[in-house]
Amino acid sequence: MRELSAVLLVFASLTVLGAGSVTTIPLQHMNPDFDNKASLQRGARTYMNYCLGCHSLQYQRYERTAKDLSIPKELMLEHLIFDPDTRIGSLIENSMSESSAKEWFGAAPPDLTLYTSLKGTPDYLYTYLKSFYHDPSRPLGVNNLLYENVGMPHALLDLQGLPRKVCKTKLEADGSTQQPCNEDGVVDGRYMLEVDGKGKLSPVEYDQLVYDLTNFLYYVAEPTRDEREKLGFWVLLFLAFFFVPAYLLGREYTKEFH
Ligand code: HEC
Repeated sequence: MRELSAVLLVFASLTVLGAGSVTTIPLQHMNPDFDNKASLQRGARTYMNYCLGCHSLQYQRYERTAKDLSIPKELMLEHLIFDPDTRIGSLIENSMSESSAKEWFGAAPPDLTLYTSLKGTPDYLYTYLKSFYHDPSRPLGVNNLLYENVGMPHALLDLQGLPRKVCKTKLEADGSTQQPCNEDGVVDGRYMLEVDGKGKLSPVEYDQLVYDLTNFLYYVAEPTRDEREKLGFWVLLFLAFFFVPAYLLGREYTKEFH
C-alpha cells in the first residue's frame, strides 16, 4: 500500500511539473457579448486574416458562422473565404500539415474551435493575445508572459507593435526611468509590457481588436450558448408558473389523507 501511494505521489508531482510552461500571471477579464454582432463580425474578420493560416476551426462551418453573425453569404464568400475550392458549407479548415508545423514552430498549432471552453474562460485567450513580448533569446524573437517559451510567432505584431517587458517596481519607484527587467527567470505580476509604438493600432484599438477576436472565439466554442441561455429563462419561467397548479392539484389530492 505504501509503495502504491509513493508511486502515485511521484506521478502526481510529475504531472504538475509536466504542466510546464503555462505560467500564473493574473488573467485580464473580458465580458463576452453575443448581442454585439458588429464585434463578432470584426472578430471573424481578424480570425480569417491572422489566425486561420495556422489554426483551423474544424468543428464550425462558414455557413453557420455567416447565419449566426448576420453576415450575408455573398460577403462571406467574397471577403472571408480565401481559398477558391472552399464552399460556404465547408468546415473552417486550413491546409497546414501537422508535421511541417512541428518542424517550423516546434509544436503544432492546436485547433481553436473549443479552446475557450477547454480553458473554462475567455479571459485566458484575451490575456494570451496581450502578453507577447520581445525576447531575442527565442527563435522567433518573441515570448509570452502567460505561456513561457511559446512556439507561436506574435501573429498580430504589425497591428500591436512589439511590446517590451519593463519592471513595474522600477516604474513605481521612479516614474520617469523605465528600465528593462533583468532576466531573473521569474515571471509574475511584477512586469508590465510597453509597446514600441510601431504598430498600426493604438493600444486602445488593439485591446478592442483582441476583445472582438476573443468574443468571436468564445462564440465559436458554443454557437448555441445564446439560444440555450435564452431558452433556459423561459423554461424556468414555465416551471415557476407550473408550480402553482401543480401545488393546488397536489393539495386537492392529499386533502383526505390525515
Ligand atoms: C504562423 C502560425 C501561427 C499563426 C498565424 C497563429 N498561431 Fe497560434 N499557435 C501557433 C503554434 C505553432 C502554436 C503552438 C505553440 C506551442 O504550443 O508552443 C500556437 C498556439 C496558440 C494557442 C494555444 C496556446 C496554448 O494554451 O496552448 C492559441 C490560443 C493561439 N495560438 C491563438 C492564436 C490566434 C488567436 C491567432 C490569430 C491572431 C494565432 N494563434 C495565429 C502558430 C500560429
